[in-house]
Amino acid sequence: MTAPSVRIAPSLLSVDFARLADQLALCESGGADWLHVDVMDGVFVPNLTFGAKVIETCRKLTKLPLDVHLMVVEPEKYFDSFVKAGASVLTIHQEAAPHLHRQVGRIKELGAAAGVVINPGTPVESLREVAADLDLLLIMSVNPGYGGQAFIKSSVDKIRRTRALLDETGSRAALEVDGGIARDTIRACWEAGADTFVAGNAIFSAADPKAEIGALRALCRVHA
Ligand code: DX5
Ligand code: ZN
Repeated sequence: MTAPSVRIAPSLLSVDFARLADQLALCESGGADWLHVDVMDGVFVPNLTFGAKVIETCRKLTKLPLDVHLMVVEPEKYFDSFVKAGASVLTIHQEAAPHLHRQVGRIKELGAAAGVVINPGTPVESLREVAADLDLLLIMSVNPGYGGQAFIKSSVDKIRRTRALLDETGSRAALEVDGGIARDTIRACWEAGADTFVAGNAIFSAADPKAEIGALRALCRVHA
């Protein structure tokens, strides 16, 4: 049996913006698979980050796919400009998207991969009807808004149930986890069925961020 693929997606939220180019180069040379870009609007979550301009800058600085996580209300307002700016994946919150099916279709029409994300308090079952249409399903393992928060332990069981839902619905979506991913949490998530891991604080506060990317990946490969 071939081992499932593992993707590591460093989060831009924890990057030192004064050294953006260097830090993105370091992610690439460290073997990162995607760059995770957290867009926050100060309404859906109590924090503000960046928009199309920064996505465009990242697009110029790295060849890594840009995995854009939209923590915003009315996410459809941003689809066109973000895809034009270079987003590879657009992931919208189920809680902010009553017309989920239509919006997933719209993202794909624009030529990007479509993801849906749920908060810790939102049931996995709420995604059953769209699961087969998704390119990515993201489980928040913290309440969104900030980097550096503690991993919510019950997320592991939620990932397990999400993997079962993807299998039951024949979905080929990547299963991503975001929040508190570090050396002590990544393996349990991988064993539960996640294949794509966002990490901000764990990578960028490490003494050697480049090595940390490899260390996180290695923890998903080693068999106990
Ligand atoms: C939180 C963001 C995360 C954040 C993760 O709202 O969606 O992507 O950057 O940060 P860490 O890995 O530090 O928990
Ligand atoms: Zn995120």
